[in-house]
Amino acid sequence: MSQAAQFLARLRRNGRVHHSHARIAPLSGGVSSEIYLVEDGAEKFVVKRALAKLKVKDDWFADISRTVSEQKYFEYVGRMMPGVVPQLRFSDPEEACFGMEFLGDGFANWKQLLLAGDCRAEHAEQAGAILGEIHQRTYLDDALRKQFDTTENFHQLRVEPYLLTTGTRHPGLQQIFVAEARRIETTREALVHGDFSPKNILICDKRMVLLDCEVAWYGDPTFDVAFFLNHLFLKSLYHAPENFGMETMIAAFWRSYAQARANGDARVVERRLMPLLLMLLLARVDGKSPVEYLPSMKQQFIRDFVCKHLPSPPENLADMSDIWFTQELKSVSVGAPA
Ligand SMILES: Nc1ncnc2c1ncn2[C@@H]1O[C@H](COP(=O)(O)OP(=O)(O)O)[C@@H](O)[C@H]1O
Ligand SMILES: [Mg+2]
Repeated sequence: MSQAAQFLARLRRNGRVHHSHARIAPLSGGVSSEIYLVEDGAEKFVVKRALAKLKVKDDWFADISRTVSEQKYFEYVGRMMPGVVPQLRFSDPEEACFGMEFLGDGFANWKQLLLAGDCRAEHAEQAGAILGEIHQRTYLDDALRKQFDTTENFHQLRVEPYLLTTGTRHPGLQQIFVAEARRIETTREALVHGDFSPKNILICDKRMVLLDCEVAWYGDPTFDVAFFLNHLFLKSLYHAPENFGMETMIAAFWRSYAQARANGDARVVERRLMPLLLMLLLARVDGKSPVEYLPSMKQQFIRDFVCKHLPSPPENLADMSDIWFTQELKSVSVGAPA
C-alpha cells in the first residue's frame, strides 16, 4: 500500500473521511511534512502531518510537537485576522496531524509567481501589512509569550541550521553568527511566524494566506522580516541580469511593514535587520537548507557580498538595496543552471 493510501486508511479509521470513494493526493513543496489533498465526496480539505526527519540533504531532525505550534498559530491569528491563515478543520494529536481548509481554485503559490517573473509591488505591500499587523498586535504580550514558549524548536529549526551551521562553515565570521544566535534567542517581543517566505504564501485576488508556521515562536519579529526579505534578494539574484522590479517590492514591503508598526518598534527592527539579513543570505548558500535555484557563480556572489559587508553592515534597508541593486548586482551575468 502506498504511503498516501495508508494515510487515507488511517483518516478513515479515525472518522475523518466517510465517503467510500474518497481520494487522496500528495501536495508538492513540503520538506518537513507529509501533506495531502483529500476529496471526500463533495468535501475537499488538506491534511498535514509533521515528519521527524526533514527531507533535505543534511541530516536534520525536528521535534514533531511543532505541529501543535502550527495549529495554535493558525487558531490565534485566524481569530485575530480572519482569512489570513487557513481555517482549521480537525486535529489528531496522536497522529501529529491536522486538517485544514483547501485553498484551491484561483490560488497561486507566491514563490512560483516570483520565479516566473510575476513580481508585484502590491503583493509585497500586502505581505508587509499583514506581517506588521501580526507583530504589532502581539507585541509585548505576556500570555502569548507563555503560549508560544518554543525557543527550543526555534533553535532546532532556525538558529542551529541557519546561523550556527553557517558560522562553523565560515570561521572568520563565526563569532558574529554565534553572537546573533544568542541575541535572537533571548529576544521575546512578538509572535513570530518563523517561515515567512513566498513559498508559504498563497495568493488569490485580494486574499493572501499564510501557511506553514511550524516554527511559530514568541520571539524577535526581526527574524520574519529578515527571512522574508532574504527571499526577495535571492529572487532578484536568480533573475539577474534581468530586473523584474524586485527593488521596488523590497521597498514596498518595508514601507507597509513599518507603517503597521508605527506605534511599535519598526526602528529597532530595522537596526537589527541588516546584520541578520546578511547572515541569512549566506545561510541559504552554506547553511543546512541551501537555495536550489542559484548557479554556483551566483552562490559565490552571495559569499563575496556577505563577507565584504557583514563586518560593517549598511545602516538601513535603503542603503543595502542601493549597494545590492545599483552597485554590485551589475557584475552578475547569466549563469548556467547549477
Ligand atoms: N491549505 C492548503 N491549501 C492548498 N495548498 C496547500 C495548503 N497547505 C499547504 N499547501 C501546499 O502544500 C505546500 C506544502 O505545505 P506546507 O504547509 O508549506 O508544508 P511544509 O511544512 O512541508 O513546507 C505549500 O507550499 C502549498 O503549496
Ligand atoms: Mg512549506
